[in-house]
Amino acid sequence: MNILALNSSPRDHETSKTELVLQKFLEGARRAGATAETLYLRNYKINHCLGCYDCWLKTPGRCIQKDDMSEVLFDRYLAADLVVVASPIYNATMNARMKLFVERTLPLMDPLKEPAEAGGVPHRFEKMPKVVTLSVCGFWDPAMFQALSLTWRMCLGKDLVAEIYRHSSEFLSIPEFQPQAQVILDAVAQAGEEVVLQGQVSPGTMATLSQDLAPADTLARLLREFWSQGVGA
Ligand SMILES: Cc1cc2nc3c(=O)[nH]c(=O)nc-3n(C[C@H](O)[C@H](O)[C@H](O)COP(=O)(O)O)c2cc1C
Repeated sequence: MNILALNSSPRDHETSKTELVLQKFLEGARRAGATAETLYLRNYKINHCLGCYDCWLKTPGRCIQKDDMSEVLFDRYLAADLVVVASPIYNATMNARMKLFVERTLPLMDPLKEPAEAGGVPHRFEKMPKVVTLSVCGFWDPAMFQALSLTWRMCLGKDLVAEIYRHSSEFLSIPEFQPQAQVILDAVAQAGEEVVLQGQVSPGTMATLSQDLAPADTLARLLREFWSQGVGA
């Protein structure tokens, strides 16, 4: 299996928790025999969608704009067996860089075809990658992923095979939570392995990777302390 991971965090490898969780997932996927490459969307120039629909009507399947989306990322996406779209939560959904990418995948759809699923716009291309969505958020409440999850499910339909969401992300690398964080990150790797071998993540693995690190009021207090110490900077 050939995996393409797209990480939209603007942070570097040392501080990005999206990167921390994503690389654990890919570690497990590689353990199961997959090859995986990560592209960082911050390194690519992606213009806004113009809303012209030329990719549907004039140049079917191709965007008329010339940038890294049309010349690099779009073909890489189509060539993968599995794509991991990894975005931090910003304001309760994916960050703008990931949204920019997603909007530019409009050429994947063909409105002239019969929808395979009720309510969906059908795919233009025969072979589409399966997709895993991955996200992290700073708050202690997993409900923070609800809008993101709904968006991905609406956009991806049957191509979506797993959703990996990790709340309390900033605590994953601090010493106080180390034994527990390691259990969580090992479960993320296990999820990567399961997606490659079984095409989905088992409920037990999902429960382990999305467990709370501590009661909500404790995490709320610790988060205030965390930021007052400037640890994340
Ligand atoms: C502009 C901005 C908006 C954010 N909005 C939220 C939010 O709505 N909910 C939340 O739980 N965390 C929010 N966060 C925190 C990030 O999700 C958290 O720091 C995460 O670790 C960032 O991912 P990264 O480390 O890979 O960049 C926000 C951070 C930024 C910079």
